[in-house]
Amino acid sequence: MKIASVLEILQDNIMINSTITIFGWIKNRRDSKSGFSFLTINDGSSLYTIQIIAINTLSNYYKEILHLTVGCSVQITGILVLSIGKKQKYEIKAKKIIILGWIENPNNYPMSAKKHSIEYLREFAHLRSRTNLIGVISRIRNTLFQVIHKFLSENGYLWIPTPIITGLNTEGAGEMFRVSTLNIDDINNNKNDTIDYKKDFFGKESFLTVSGQLTLEAYACSLSKVYNFGPTFRAENSNTSRHLAEFWMLEVESAFMTLNEIANFAEKMLKYICEYLLQHATSDINFLKNNIDFNIISRLESFLHMNFIRLEYKDAVSILLNSKKLFNEPVFFGMDMSSEHERYLVEKHFKIPVIILNYPKKLKAFYMRLNDDQETVSAMDILVPGIGELIGGSQREDRISILDQRILEAGLNKKDYWWYRDLRRYGSVPHSGFGMGFERLISYFTGISNVRDVIPFPRTVRNADF
Ligand code: 4AD
Ligand code: MG
Repeated sequence: MKIASVLEILQDNIMINSTITIFGWIKNRRDSKSGFSFLTINDGSSLYTIQIIAINTLSNYYKEILHLTVGCSVQITGILVLSIGKKQKYEIKAKKIIILGWIENPNNYPMSAKKHSIEYLREFAHLRSRTNLIGVISRIRNTLFQVIHKFLSENGYLWIPTPIITGLNTEGAGEMFRVSTLNIDDINNNKNDTIDYKKDFFGKESFLTVSGQLTLEAYACSLSKVYNFGPTFRAENSNTSRHLAEFWMLEVESAFMTLNEIANFAEKMLKYICEYLLQHATSDINFLKNNIDFNIISRLESFLHMNFIRLEYKDAVSILLNSKKLFNEPVFFGMDMSSEHERYLVEKHFKIPVIILNYPKKLKAFYMRLNDDQETVSAMDILVPGIGELIGGSQREDRISILDQRILEAGLNKKDYWWYRDLRRYGSVPHSGFGMGFERLISYFTGISNVRDVIPFPRTVRNADF
């Protein structure tokens, strides 16, 4: 039995007139009065379907085939022929059709052929990958994942899987999920409020990671060019279209690189992966053009040729102040930019991606390198239209005395960072890195505006279903 995918057939990899078997799901059935039916089958290997001709001489034609509905799963063996119809190149003349799974009560099938809204699909995260849209997004997500590894590997970067369970809060904010094997009932019954974490699994407080950066730095300080690409967890109570409680982050860390060099590298990476996507996801992108964002192709093509704007934080604030626009959050030097500010800069003012550099130290994490002005740190955020912050990065503080000072100022305990400090005590090097939210990247490239729709099973506040 020669098994073929629909994609293999459409890529002309299967010989005409050969007998093949395909597996897939019914997208459509049309019956002709002259004693045969057309079945359209998709198997997820691409957006495309293959047409099957089922004649009434098949043993199960009247009993089964005439009752097939959208979503039924089938195994079909037949002869691959060139189609006479203009709509498709190939079709299969079925010799045998085995129904693997019926649709229980087709009228109630949540993924019926009618067009569903993206919000409706979210309610059926376990079934929504059966739609063209989520199939397209899943393949694009996969392509982007692969090409990021390819780009980094070609540039000499090693993949380092950093731990998911950690005792440290890299970003310093209180937004971590606790990992514990302590019995909650015991804790609730505990009259004297303190919890003895020495009795916990790891013998101390532990959490799901908000970033693998600190451990990644340890490897950059020996292997020079490293990256980490994995799930990241934040218990942020932000119910927005750009926040997830569990998201994927790419983190890149480079020894001997300055802030400007890492910013240039990030820009180069974004363009490389965008170009690859345009070249390797043509049919999926065309689908998005017809259904989501009519300008997607010109938008991505122009992205390749844009020189991202580089802007000092203080100049960004001046632009906002001069804009005369009324923002919800006040604008002043020292403010943390909120998404309305970021989006004004990229969508209204510059209309192209912007890299904001050198933020006031108070706004940023303790590990960023203090600039000579003693007020700002060597930080960068890359903002893109429609999303806001896509990438956050910095040059890292590599001078032990200043790092200690910053740890103190941040109210952190030097002892907890003993191994991180060692990196500065033994052969310290200038180094820089960045983190990129993978769902925000997919959202930006595809034009799908909510990150919940570009990750298979989104986790957000009050939502960890499926
Ligand atoms: O800016 P962030 O917090 O930076 C860090 O965690 C650094 N330690 C990274 C590094 O330098 N190695 O997060 C990086 C990126 C953001 O720019 C954003 O794209 C994404 O991660 N991100 C989120 N994406 C989805 N949901 C959330 N809740 C996110 N929080 C951050
Ligand atoms: Mg950030």
